[in-house]
Amino acid sequence: MHLDLARSGAPARSVRDLLDLAEPGDVQEYFDMSLDYGPGIGTERLRAAISTYTGASPAEVVVTHGAVEALLLACGTAIGERQVVAVATPAYEGMCLAVEAMGGIAQSVPVWKPGSGCLDLGALCELDLAAYAAVMVNSPHNPTGLQADVAELEHLADCCARAGAALIVDEVSMGTLDSGAVSFGTSRAAESQAVMLIGDVSKAFGLGGLRVGWCATTCPKQRQRLATLRDVTSLGNSAPSQHLAALALENRSHLSVSEMARANLGRLDAWMGSRPGSSWTSPTDGLVAFPGLALPVSSLAFAERLLANHRVSVAPGGFFGHDRHLRVGLGLPPDVFAEGLAQLAEALGEAMCGADR
Ligand SMILES: Cc1ncc(COP(=O)(O)O)c(C=O)c1O
Repeated sequence: MHLDLARSGAPARSVRDLLDLAEPGDVQEYFDMSLDYGPGIGTERLRAAISTYTGASPAEVVVTHGAVEALLLACGTAIGERQVVAVATPAYEGMCLAVEAMGGIAQSVPVWKPGSGCLDLGALCELDLAAYAAVMVNSPHNPTGLQADVAELEHLADCCARAGAALIVDEVSMGTLDSGAVSFGTSRAAESQAVMLIGDVSKAFGLGGLRVGWCATTCPKQRQRLATLRDVTSLGNSAPSQHLAALALENRSHLSVSEMARANLGRLDAWMGSRPGSSWTSPTDGLVAFPGLALPVSSLAFAERLLANHRVSVAPGGFFGHDRHLRVGLGLPPDVFAEGLAQLAEALGEAMCGADR
């Protein structure tokens, strides 16, 4: 059996899982729904559900094809005369790729280094932001699982607003490990027209296949530009996907994975404690952890051998510019996660004595 510790979201759900949560009238509505084109910004019901989840008002929300399209559209609206986007790194690869796809220049600004227990946004505030189209921050952070300090993020939003730059905040894994976490959309800075808030139902609810995400902003001009650009990317989301995504958000208390993620984190914490030469910053939210390990080979070579010899996938730290690290997903049933860690320990032992080739 293949054990996918490389995933960054919750275990996948089925249509049945979601329809089981629905009222009978809802199931009927699902079967009877028109498959004609719908509103480009998303259905009213889904935008209302996103509003209760993020604090953004329904009118501020544009539904997109996953967070990846939201990132693309946010970059597209921000990049114009100013082309440089500062990306807080290490980061999910799609962030830099979205900037480049929209004709911008992605400038990496490190906000984390191995051993650090926080994201340091100071370097972003110190940039000459008047020269930047946007700043992009991901919190909870992929790959470390750290959360940006809200006051620091608010200060960054103020700096961006003063300089006429956008602040794109990707919070796709919000509330998955820390069940009390709230969206940046509920913060003081959420009113700022500089802020563009990005989320999805992929990570927290295991619904990556629905391809539902969003971008929310209080700035009417940005929203108009988002909607216009959206007309030539995907035009709109499918009605069944939006219906199911709304059901998931409306019933999110039944879909929480934080207990499972915390159990897996406890196991990983104990496992790390028993590994000589390892370093460890425990994640605070999100469904990934980024342990530093004394790997005798590159993280990519190790990950390839782990897959070939043990059928376990992890994301190599080298993908994030930090070799000697592996990104491990916490969104798996605890017995599967435990087996994955056991295999990982075996593979590390083999790599140490060169017996894995
Ligand atoms: C930080 C981050 N943002 C955005 C995405 C894109 O997610 P999706 O397009 O499925 O919503 C991912 C996917 O891994 C991610 O890790």
